[in-house]
Parts: sequence; C-alpha cells; structure tokens
Amino acid sequence: MDRRCRNDPPLESICAVNARQMQRSFLNQASSSAFTSAAWWQSGVIYQIYPRSFQDSNGDGIGDLNGIAARLDYLKDLGVDAIWISPIFPSPMADFGYDVSDYCGIDPMFGTMDDFDRLLVAVHRAGLKLLLDFVPNHTSDLHPWFLESRSCRTNPRRDWYIWRDPAPGGGPPNNWLSEFGGPAWTLDETTGQYYYHAYLKEQPDLNWRNAGVSAAMLDVLRFWFERGVDGFRVDAIHHLFEDIGLRSNPHDPDWREGMSPARRLIRRYTMDQPEVHDAIAAMRRVAEEFGGRLLVGESSLPIDRLMAYYGTNLSGFQLPFNFHLINTAWRTEAIAGLIQSYEAALPARAWPNWVLGNHDRSRVASRIGREQARVAAMLLLTLRGTPTIYQGEELGMLDVTIPPELVQDPWEKNVPGIGLGRDPERTPMPWSGAIHGGFTTATPWLPVDTVTMPNVERQQSDPASFLSLYRALLRLRRSEPALSIGSYREIARTDAVLAYERQHSGNCLQIVLNLSATPQRLPDAVTDGRLLLSTTRRKTERPPRAHLEANQGIILATEFGQARHDQARSNR
Ligand code: GLC
Ligand code: CA
Repeated sequence: MDRRCRNDPPLESICAVNARQMQRSFLNQASSSAFTSAAWWQSGVIYQIYPRSFQDSNGDGIGDLNGIAARLDYLKDLGVDAIWISPIFPSPMADFGYDVSDYCGIDPMFGTMDDFDRLLVAVHRAGLKLLLDFVPNHTSDLHPWFLESRSCRTNPRRDWYIWRDPAPGGGPPNNWLSEFGGPAWTLDETTGQYYYHAYLKEQPDLNWRNAGVSAAMLDVLRFWFERGVDGFRVDAIHHLFEDIGLRSNPHDPDWREGMSPARRLIRRYTMDQPEVHDAIAAMRRVAEEFGGRLLVGESSLPIDRLMAYYGTNLSGFQLPFNFHLINTAWRTEAIAGLIQSYEAALPARAWPNWVLGNHDRSRVASRIGREQARVAAMLLLTLRGTPTIYQGEELGMLDVTIPPELVQDPWEKNVPGIGLGRDPERTPMPWSGAIHGGFTTATPWLPVDTVTMPNVERQQSDPASFLSLYRALLRLRRSEPALSIGSYREIARTDAVLAYERQHSGNCLQIVLNLSATPQRLPDAVTDGRLLLSTTRRKTERPPRAHLEANQGIILATEFGQARHDQARSNR
C-alpha cells in the first residue's frame, strides 16, 4: 500500500510546498540563504553546564573550570556545538552564582582568569563555542556598587538600585513579593529606606532606568566579548524593569495552597514591562559591535509575549528561550498544538529554539519517565530550531531527593517541603564507577546518584544507553541539514502518535513519535522509508512494520531523503 497518498497531496507537491516554506523560512533567517551560511547558532546545539556539578578538579567537592576543560573530549564526542556555563563570577553564592559581586572576574571556587582563558582556547580548539551567563537584573548585596548605594542616601550610586520610602503607615512601599518567598522589599536600617529585590534580599535589583547602570552593564558584555566569548545567556530578563509608579500587583484568584507563595499575585507590574525592549536592543547593539555574538534570553513568558523578545531588525535576542516544552502536558494534542502555535507566532526573521530542562526545573526523565524521555530527546533534536540540552539529560538523569539536612537551594530553605527547591536537578554528573561517580574525591556539595544512574563510562560502552541515543541523534542531526535547518510540517497526530516531516533541498525525513506506553499503528500519512534511528533498543535497518513499539520514536528517510542519506554515508 502506498500510504503516502492517503489524505494528502502526492509527495512531489508536498515537497514543492515544503520547498516554498523552506525558502520562506530561509528568507526569514538573519544571515543565511544556504546550509553553509546558516549561523552556527541556527544549525548548532547548545549544551548547558552547571559548573558546580560538572567535574571537580581540585578535590573540594565543587565543579570548576579545569574540570570542564578535562571533559571537553566528552562534549566533542557527544556532538554538541556550544557550551553555556552558568555563572562563574565572584559571588557569595547566596543563589549559587546568580548573585554576582564582580562581573569581570572568576570566583576562586571555579578557578582563575588564567584558567578561564585556557578553557576558552581549548573550547575553540575543539571547534566549540562558549557562552557565559549574564545576570543583569540584580547584583549581590556584597557587590561594591550596592555597598556604596546603601551607605547613604546621597551616595552617587544610590540611584543604581531601587530605593523607596516606607509606605505612609510604615512597612514596604507596596505588595510586591520575592520569587523566593517573602516580600520583595527589605528595609535598610541605616538609611531608613527599602530596596527592591525580585529574588533574595541578597540579590538587590539594579535600576536600569539609571544611565550609569546600563552603561556599566554593557561594558561587562564588552569585557567578555573582547576576551573572546561567543555569546551570553541573559538571566531573568523579564524582571529587568518594574512599574515606575510602583502599583501593587493584583491577587491571582487561581492561586492554591502548595503553589509558590509568589504566585499569589499576578506579576502585572513587576514583569515584562515595555522598557525591557530598549535595554535588550542596547545589549544586542553591543553583540553586533563584535560581529553578531549570540544572546539567548531567559524569558519565561507565554508565547505571544515571548515573541516580542526577538525584537525587530536585529534589536532583540537571536534566541529568546522557549520553555514551553517544559510546561506543556506530555500528550500528543498538547505538544502538537504547542509546536503549531509557536511556529505560527514566530515573527519574520525569527529562528525557533526548544528546551527540555535546566538547572531550575525538575528533570525531564522525572517529569515524564525515562522511557518517554528518550522520545522527548528525539523530539528536541528533530524539531525546527536550536535545541539546548541540560547537562545530564543525555544520561537520562533523574531528580535526586535531597534529605533536609543536605538542602542547599535558598528557595527550598525559605519555602520548605512543597517541592520548589532546585537541588534535585542540580546533582553532580556521574562519570564513572569511582567514588562519588568520579565527580570528586571529596564530599560532593550535593550527593551524586550512583545508585539508579548508569554512569558515563558504562553508558559509553552500551549501544542501548541513553548516551548512545543522544550521540546517534546528534550525529544524524549533523549529517542531515533537513534536521537542523529544514522546514517543519506536521503530517499526522492521533491520541498517542505525533508525526512530522523535516525537509531541505528535496530531502525529506519523517519523525514518528509514540507518546504512549502501548504499541500504536503507524499513521497512514507516514511514508514507507528506511529506518535511520529508533529510540528503542532494538536498532534495525529494516523498514519498520506498520506499527510503533511502546515508547518508540523513529526517524525515516523517505524516498526523497533516502538517496541523499545513502550518499552521505558513502562519503563518510
Ligand atoms: C534565573 C536563574 C535562576 C536564578 C534566578 C535569579 O531564573 O536561572 O537559577 O535563581 O534567575 O538570578
Ligand atoms: Ca573544585
């Protein structure tokens, strides 16, 4: 049976349609008209390193820069293109580096500036890019700027932070709440005013309406660009401005016991304020001064609001993080609908991106189970747009339950026992069968899961492992432009199965994902083709039978994709 023709135009016309779509999507891209000229961040894959938990090199139980350098071969073999390292700057570590006390240094815990420079050279020599984490919304309360600012009301840096008198009857100026629990205002006894902090009281918000602040922060970007970094992930960007009139936030009627206390209020006046786009445009101008370095924005927003963060005419982020796969129910209808609405909402010249997890969110394998996490990996690495992998995702790492006496995350300490803490997804990488998984020789800052988690060494030698699946997916993605920069078209969705096609220069690949734990019929719209990859352990070169196994995702080279694939293999 030629399933290709059912319910669908003939393949030629599908491909013609796709070619037109593809052409449009290329015209939409910032700087590409062919695969070879796509920007690296469009065809490439980003890997997030949470440095405290990647690899310890000096036996203090905490990962560091030399540890990352020692693992570059691993990253190269894995097949990613860029690493983003969460903050490594001097910090009192109240929020584990997201409280910066010097934007132009390296915390001794992570190493020295020389270590950093050596790492950067090694990263580039390995053919990879390096992104750092820029934390513009707030500094540490021990940053010299804040120490000056709080010293007296007339200090020239007073206005660098957000200071307000108490409310007329006393108490905080309004009802704003800290993301990590409690009020977002802390009284400074010495000067009798409150300062604002979207997060911890140890993380006072900078006042971006002050020209000195924006100039100093843009110079931070220049400092690192001059050193050679390839871009930044920009932290908590939606918090950069607050309502100038300090209006109180409205109550959220949908808040329920067990939710974050900060969600009691709708953040109407503390998030996503219009001025943020001018600040991003200024950051982007600096990135362009250096030949178009990459800016990825941490922007936890609904799709319609998120799109504004692309800006217009190179004025926004190249990639405003799209976290919607993390927040969407793991069901075909919901996932397919998300892809459709995200793609439809993308502005002209905007390039998509996708994420399954990060150091702030429960791990994907814990959210949807390890079997489906393999399907999720195939989804992440075959959707149109730049994927970001969070360290350990490639091993199928799970959240680790942290006993109360070992809790590190300040959020969990402030609001204990309701699952807000982020330690479970931050536990160290298990590298080998050595003590503490080879992560450290000392007591690790968080326990290493050496019980449920097969370590890297074991996974490397097991063709059925999670790691082998990631490597195979990344290899295929690299050899198939259709997967990295091709067009996207949904071809079928049923209760349990999502199927789509990626197409580039007449090459079609079809991806068919079984989002359920029971075998499913292949949708009729799926073409007979050669099986390039399966998420299930049995790897076979035979064409698939007319069904999908439980939890199986497959990639097929269709008639048009096949010839190209055969040629790519013979060229290898
Ligand atoms: C971002 C970071 C998170 C941090 C917060 C405050 O959301 O990802 O880890 O706690 O910003 O900087
Ligand atoms: Ca260390």
